[in-house]
Amino acid sequence: MTQTILITGASSGIGKAAAKLFADRGWNVAATMRNPDDGADFADLDNVLVARLDLLDSDSIQSAVAAAQERFGRIDVLLNNAGYGAYGPLEATPMEVLRRQFDVNLFGLVETIQAVLPVMRAQRSGTIVNVSSVGGRITYPLGSLYHGSKWAVEGLSEAMHYELAPLGIRVKLVEPGGVNTDFGGRSFVFTQNPELTDYQPLVDAAIAAMETGTPSGNQEPEEVAEVILIAATDDTMQLRYISGDGAKALLANRYSAEQDEQFVAGMRSQFGL
Ligand SMILES: NC(=O)c1ccc[n+]([C@@H]2O[C@H](COP(=O)([O-])OP(=O)(O)OC[C@H]3O[C@@H](n4cnc5c(N)ncnc54)[C@H](OP(=O)(O)O)[C@@H]3O)[C@@H](O)[C@H]2O)c1
Repeated sequence: MTQTILITGASSGIGKAAAKLFADRGWNVAATMRNPDDGADFADLDNVLVARLDLLDSDSIQSAVAAAQERFGRIDVLLNNAGYGAYGPLEATPMEVLRRQFDVNLFGLVETIQAVLPVMRAQRSGTIVNVSSVGGRITYPLGSLYHGSKWAVEGLSEAMHYELAPLGIRVKLVEPGGVNTDFGGRSFVFTQNPELTDYQPLVDAAIAAMETGTPSGNQEPEEVAEVILIAATDDTMQLRYISGDGAKALLANRYSAEQDEQFVAGMRSQFGL
């Protein structure tokens, strides 16, 4: 049976690379994006449905999931990829900027999961792959919003992977380091208030560090897409997939990947999962 994946943020970067990879591998792909005109590259592919999904618009989430279900009859994998990075001193950040970061990176992801779960529960199978980041397990200065949202995605995903296991649904986290996409350009929002001069030395240092590149290396989005394909298809309970050697080296300074998997496996076994 042909497998189906629904992808958020398939207009660019990692989401687009994943849509292309899964389509090449013969999957049905619901490539969702805020503006379907950005899906022109997929227009000639019979196995790709381009649908509008804006994580800030609940109706669009419901209708994109319904359209995928209607066209392909099932949803085997949900790839929650869409997201952006809001940075800057927390005190200088208006609440609307903070809320928007969490509305997109966290609550939009949650709403999409809630929309897809009835389909997966009925199938008694499915895999939810949430694109987190190395920034979901470590933080950089002035990243309280972005990291707060990604750490929340990590915690939510880890807890959900227990609760969905008995229903035949897997939850996976993909954690890229630096990736060559628009993330550092149009998907990067920096807020500062020049009147809050106390933060200026750190703002200058953080901007200088960003300009010299990321300590987690730079991958191409196609490489992350390959990791996503493994997470979606490896038929294991592995929870976390770190993408890229730079990201692995960075996280190894703080966590042991082996211990992490042992810990969650121990918790699963305690609850008979
Ligand atoms: N690049 C990195 O270094 C890096 C590292 C770790 C994790 N990540 C994560 O990877 C994911 C994808 O980012 P990327 O690197 O591929 O960057 P990207 O090329 O800028 O892609 C971001 C995607 O998110 C979409 N998006 C933003 N707001 C949205 C909303 N309200 N509703 C629906 N879609 C929305 C964008 O849509 P539009 O085209 O309409 O703007 C775009 O498709 C993000 O979750 C990011 O946190 C990236």
